[in-house]
Amino acid sequence: MTKHIARTLVTTALPYANGPVHLGHLAGVYLPADIYVRYKRMKGEDIIHIGGSDEHGVPITITAEKEGISPQDVVDRYHRMNRDAFSRCGISFDYYGRTSSSVHHETAREFFLEIENKKIFNRKTEQQFYDATAGRFLSDRYVTGTCPICGNQEANGDQCEQCGTHLSPTELLNPKSKLSDATPELRETMHWYFPLGRFQNALEAYVETHRDEWRSNVVNYTRTWLNQGLNDRAITRDLGWGIELPISDPEAKGKVLYVWFDAVLGYISFTREWASLRGDKDLWRSYWQDPESRVVHFIGKDNVVFHTLMFPAILMAWNEGRQEGIYNLADNVPASEFMNFEGRKFSKSRNYAVYLGEFLEKFPADALRYSIAMNYPENKDTDFSWTDFQNRTNGELADTLGNFVKRSIDFTLARFDGLVPWDYCKESLNTVFLDGQIDDIAQHYEHFHFREAVSCTMDIARAANRFLTQNEPWKVIKSDRDAAARIMSAALNLCRSLSILFYPIIPDTCDRIHSMLGFEGQIGDLIRQGDSIWDQAKMPGLLKGHKLKGSSEILFRKIEDADIEPELKKIEQLLAEAEKREAGAAVERTFFKPVISFDDFQKVDLRAATVISAEKVKKAAKLLKLQLRVGSETRQVLAGIAEHYSPDELTGRQVVLVANLAERTLRGEVSQGMILAVEGADGRLLVLEPSIEAINGSQIQ
Ligand code: MF3
Ligand code: ZN
Repeated sequence: MTKHIARTLVTTALPYANGPVHLGHLAGVYLPADIYVRYKRMKGEDIIHIGGSDEHGVPITITAEKEGISPQDVVDRYHRMNRDAFSRCGISFDYYGRTSSSVHHETAREFFLEIENKKIFNRKTEQQFYDATAGRFLSDRYVTGTCPICGNQEANGDQCEQCGTHLSPTELLNPKSKLSDATPELRETMHWYFPLGRFQNALEAYVETHRDEWRSNVVNYTRTWLNQGLNDRAITRDLGWGIELPISDPEAKGKVLYVWFDAVLGYISFTREWASLRGDKDLWRSYWQDPESRVVHFIGKDNVVFHTLMFPAILMAWNEGRQEGIYNLADNVPASEFMNFEGRKFSKSRNYAVYLGEFLEKFPADALRYSIAMNYPENKDTDFSWTDFQNRTNGELADTLGNFVKRSIDFTLARFDGLVPWDYCKESLNTVFLDGQIDDIAQHYEHFHFREAVSCTMDIARAANRFLTQNEPWKVIKSDRDAAARIMSAALNLCRSLSILFYPIIPDTCDRIHSMLGFEGQIGDLIRQGDSIWDQAKMPGLLKGHKLKGSSEILFRKIEDADIEPELKKIEQLLAEAEKREAGAAVERTFFKPVISFDDFQKVDLRAATVISAEKVKKAAKLLKLQLRVGSETRQVLAGIAEHYSPDELTGRQVVLVANLAERTLRGEVSQGMILAVEGADGRLLVLEPSIEAINGSQIQ
């Protein structure tokens, strides 16, 4: 049974105000959300789109320190830049806030206090790195060092970019402070922890309820976390930038809320700010707290658990024991995969990206919106390229949609004085498309299948174009003016239907069609709650005698090879640079280790071993626990390969074991050695295997 939905709140992940948004962000989050919201508005539904900047967190203070400016300067710059780029791209936020606002600080503190007063947080004292020169504790990315899993010497304190492992700063080998390059010392510090485990059962039940509607990647990723058992998460940091704790406790001094604790609450703060601007201070409550309302979070796949576990748990903690002011949990979390560009992942840190603002200086927003929507990474990564952009713009937008509209209008202007020449009936519209096709498109939107929705919409434009070409009004008019009038009336009504159907995807173009058809104002002006202008696309809307505007324009200029040549060159350059860097990195890893003597090498005891069993390690997504048979002994080894091999794949295989490595403990498990692996061309880590069957336990020499 589906519940009655009175209104929908759509949120989009708050981008860090630490850099410009790129096309990957647009493709995965903001464009699909905007298309969805525009479609729903046209259906006459009550829906709002809330977004904004995430202005806290370590990356921002690091940028500020690097550039010698204040964190406020950094966020001011990028907040404005991203807000403007979104606006030029037609992303129609109802409100675009920022987490440095006073309302947001207030909201976040209110949540902290509520949970603190309910005694739900744990306080724990832990050893943490401290930079004595700078006089500061070093959280997350302020520490770099060598990754214990893959040996990358530039791993960050929160994650190793090379192998993807989530780390805590104290796990790094040879840790260094980013502030002073000094080796940090360990000092005790107290932090507030949110006990996610306390909500394990409730979260399991929550996810279970939505299992069938949510995308499988969202369910699977969330379940992996649930299956590993949820842990306490520190929600405070020793940092000077962020939201200070609302308690006078001396222990709270110098601490701020962890950025992820405050960012998700931004969705609530911004809805409050939106409501105040609308002059109805309490209006936000109906979107968050009315059981008939629904919340939908559009995000990228890297943000899933924050939205399916962390944020819901925070809301559960708030809701606990309350009679009123109870928040709804998200109804759906359509998380996207990634859209790559010219075969590679976007990467800000590697400077491989096409930024939205820059793109829009050269090419129109609608061409981008259409091409990107056709590449929406719904359940697998997709690839976008300049040629793809050129082909879609020229072949589909210009030659199909643009050409059809212009021919219809020009011919009517030339031969029928710019007046709709016939009363057209619905039956005839249906010779080009059926109502069912429009309902199918609607269903695709309802289920977040954006690629299908957009491509079915283009199918209708294709059919319209074919209709005109096949009926040849320019010939028919010579012998039968009425017949030509009937054809043109149909064509003009098709233009109108297309201007409605394409509106969620290419709004600016649709407004131009609307105006060429002789309508005042914009399509958005027609939107009324409770009234579906979407469904009006099924009906003829232009009666005989309706006057067109009197002029036509080209909807899409073709993109010439010369237009994209400089862009292709730039990509080539970026790729060459990236390759050079990567080759350089490989050389460094191979040749820069200090020379060792033959005797030293002889100390390494390499053995052929057989994997007798393999299993995943709780709470360590990257690790596999292997039991190896080495001669007469069994050894347990932890290897950072869980993302490259399933346990089954390894069982029974022979591997090369470093057999005399000092034992160490990872995530509470003993590792007695190491197995050899190498990175394959596709980035997969390959476990080395003796290519002939070796005697188990025999020494490699
Ligand atoms: N700033 C985060 C990122 O770019 C996303 C925050 S989403 C929110 O990955 F929910 F926390 F707001
Ligand atoms: Zn690593």
